[in-house]
Amino acid sequence: MPDQRRHRAYVGAAAQYDIIGASQFALAVACGLREEHHLLDFGCGSLRAGRFFITYLRSGHYFGIEPNRWLVESAFTEELGADILSIKAPNFAFVDNFSIPFTRRFDYIIAQSIFTHMGRELVIRLFKSAARALAENGIFLATFFLGDKDETRQGWIYFDTVPRGESVATPYREGTITTLAGDAGLKSCKLPYHHPRGQTWFLFTKRDSRLPSPSQIALLHGLQAMPSLLPEE
Ligand SMILES: C[S@@+](CC[C@H](N)C(=O)[O-])C[C@H]1O[C@@H](n2cnc3c(N)ncnc32)[C@H](O)[C@@H]1O
Repeated sequence: MPDQRRHRAYVGAAAQYDIIGASQFALAVACGLREEHHLLDFGCGSLRAGRFFITYLRSGHYFGIEPNRWLVESAFTEELGADILSIKAPNFAFVDNFSIPFTRRFDYIIAQSIFTHMGRELVIRLFKSAARALAENGIFLATFFLGDKDETRQGWIYFDTVPRGESVATPYREGTITTLAGDAGLKSCKLPYHHPRGQTWFLFTKRDSRLPSPSQIALLHGLQAMPSLLPEE
């Protein structure tokens, strides 16, 4: 039976809680994340991916932003245990204005299933915040729902903010994503990396030299590259 505990279900697809977290970690490591880096997990939720990043990174190097404090607290009571708070000293900001209040710059920023619930104004705001917080050589990994048309609704679009039955997915065209990222000073690269829920990964950087080459991009297929080893999803 899928684990339907509330802190897992709130971030979506409770049955895939493990793989959606682990695949974020695997992608970040494939893109060069090492234990000495500082990583920001924007909209970290119940630490679906954060539980892997926190144990891997050096003490004090994980930063999470999340407005729902109870999700983070549940992650420590239900998933990780409280001892890791003193051992790995993760940092959190419980804010909901889509800013990044930490003063340091980040080697890596990850935003999984965040732009996928945003109206255009919030997309623009998060790109600008991320560009300010990203180190000059930093890498920003984020998912989008690609579509033929851009989302026209505004604000944060989630199951607890829109009427029941209304879609909570906010699609954008690839060209729109590239343009809005470019307006914030970020260069874009679409990745072929497998996403268990049909989202599409993008890598953003400030420097052309940090964009992966076509041959590197071709290696970033993730689990999709080994279907014979996959359990049925
Ligand atoms: C689909 S979940 C993804 C969570 C996490 N990134 C993951 O992969 O498990 C969306 C998350 O965005 C959070 N969120 C909502 N409003 C936010 C805001 N203003 N700033 C940051 N995160 C927000 C939600 O509470 C939720 O944890």
